[in-house]
Amino acid sequence: MKKLFAILAMASLSHAAVAAEVVGNAKDAAEKKIAMCIGCHAIPGYKSTFPEVYQVPMIGGQSAKYIEGALRAYQKGERKHPTMRGIAGSLSDQDMADLAAYYSQQK
Ligand code: HEC
Repeated sequence: MKKLFAILAMASLSHAAVAAEVVGNAKDAAEKKIAMCIGCHAIPGYKSTFPEVYQVPMIGGQSAKYIEGALRAYQKGERKHPTMRGIAGSLSDQDMADLAAYYSQQK
């Protein structure tokens, strides 16, 4: 029995290592999170006017990798748009993966 626990413990450890590669859930998880995004990104041709006038880019249908990379770049400050920086700064890795999965599957 002890041996079995050791194996299970090891298995869950290696699982944790794999989990560092976060898998996005485009369904239930993302649907609660997109509420933060649809105010700008769901409207074709929509412009946000703070602090300047920006054309809000279409993110639906972009690759998940691209969306996640962009969000991470805002979070790190490599991309400068202040609103997106504020939003990305509040997202966890899991949030980004979920959102990226959702938008990449959107048509
Ligand atoms: C207040 C309006 C607003 C909200 C809310 C908003 N965004 Fe944005 N988003 C923008 C604007 C404007 C840009 C373009 C900024 C720039 O030029 O860097 C942008 C850029 C992006 C980009 C980069 C797109 C590209 O083509 O490079 C991604 C990805 C993105 N947003 C995802 C999201 C997600 C996910 C959410 C919700 C968690 C969200 N945004 C919420 C306005 C918004």
